[in-house]
Amino acid sequence: MMQAADSANATPAATTERAPLTVLGLESSCDETAAAVVRLHPHGRADVLADEIARQDEAHAPYGGVVPEIAARAHASTLDRVVARAMGAAGIDFGELDGVAATAGPGLVGGVMVALMTGKAIALAHGLPLVAVNHLEGHALSPRLSQPLAFPYLLLLVSGGHTQLLVVEDVGRYRRLGSTIDDAAGEAFDKLAKIMGLGHPGGPALERAAAAGDPRRFVLPRPLLGAPHADFSFAGLKTAARRAWEAIDQPTDRDRADLAASFQAAVADVIADRTRRALASAGTVTALVAAGGVAANAAIRRALAAAAAEAGVPLVAPPPKWCTDNAAMIALAGAERLARGERDGLATAARPRWPLDEAAADAAPAVGGGRKGAKA
Ligand code: KG4
Ligand code: ZN
Repeated sequence: MMQAADSANATPAATTERAPLTVLGLESSCDETAAAVVRLHPHGRADVLADEIARQDEAHAPYGGVVPEIAARAHASTLDRVVARAMGAAGIDFGELDGVAATAGPGLVGGVMVALMTGKAIALAHGLPLVAVNHLEGHALSPRLSQPLAFPYLLLLVSGGHTQLLVVEDVGRYRRLGSTIDDAAGEAFDKLAKIMGLGHPGGPALERAAAAGDPRRFVLPRPLLGAPHADFSFAGLKTAARRAWEAIDQPTDRDRADLAASFQAAVADVIADRTRRALASAGTVTALVAAGGVAANAAIRRALAAAAAEAGVPLVAPPPKWCTDNAAMIALAGAERLARGERDGLATAARPRWPLDEAAADAAPAVGGGRKGAKA
């Protein structure tokens, strides 16, 4: 799909020999409608000139999860305004852009189409090149929005939609070491929190409840702990926690706190163990990067810091606004692609499923459906 016109002779050095590139990025693959303007300088430094986001939490709240049709309609009615806000905040005209980058997948396809169609319209109207960005590539490169992080690094992406470990070797070169075979980590937090009456989003609510709890009171499984690969599984843990909850007659605040703490400790153990396994097989990396909403959890952060320290690498945690879904990471990925002479045609289609590491995904396809489709 990527036009290979100049990519054969594009080299990584290309980024060091050119003028800055200013790119508008568009994101609408789940329930955030976002637009951002990023200027990528030679040597990889990025300035975020604008970063706008519109959430849809209220529209989905009555249903306890993201409803694809509602999401698509909300993106369609909001994105133009979010783009106008981003261009206003950046203080530039469309004519001053070097390109437009839109998420083309993976994700809820009705939503993905909104950013992609809008990107095509802007590209056509203003004579700009279009880059169709893989949302996961956006996440993979996002730590470079806030600091000059050298390749290769190990990325742990843990959110409501993704759970994977990826070696980011360079722009366009990703090696997936592991991913979830059932639920995403955030999904497990959200589902258990709902069962325990803790409200939505469940992760932060469950973490608050866990603060006063005893993590040793409930003995819960640690799926795939010690397994000779770096895949994850959370379904069995979530089910065991649900059964423990249902076995309590009249749950008290103490029961709630203890189960939340026990569940959180099990998730932290599993994530740290899978990450250790990945660090052991990744080869030399400059850092462990923890991104995604679940990486905000303090117990999980502590476990990851210990795993990173053992491996002798720093733990890098990008600011939350760039860890979770955003358009700045899409603009950055688009700018990196443009810098390499790549662009996409206006016939490019939205892709509900789009693994970053096609070879790894074909060898071990993720089976989880999840909020966003297959999490590979
Ligand atoms: O990255 P994110 O904002 O959105 C996507 O899923 O794309 O991640 C949201 C997920 C939710 O499942 C939420 O419950 C979880 O991250 N989360 C947490 C915490 N904060 C957010 N899970 C555990 N502990 C937290 N403190
Ligand atoms: Zn995402």
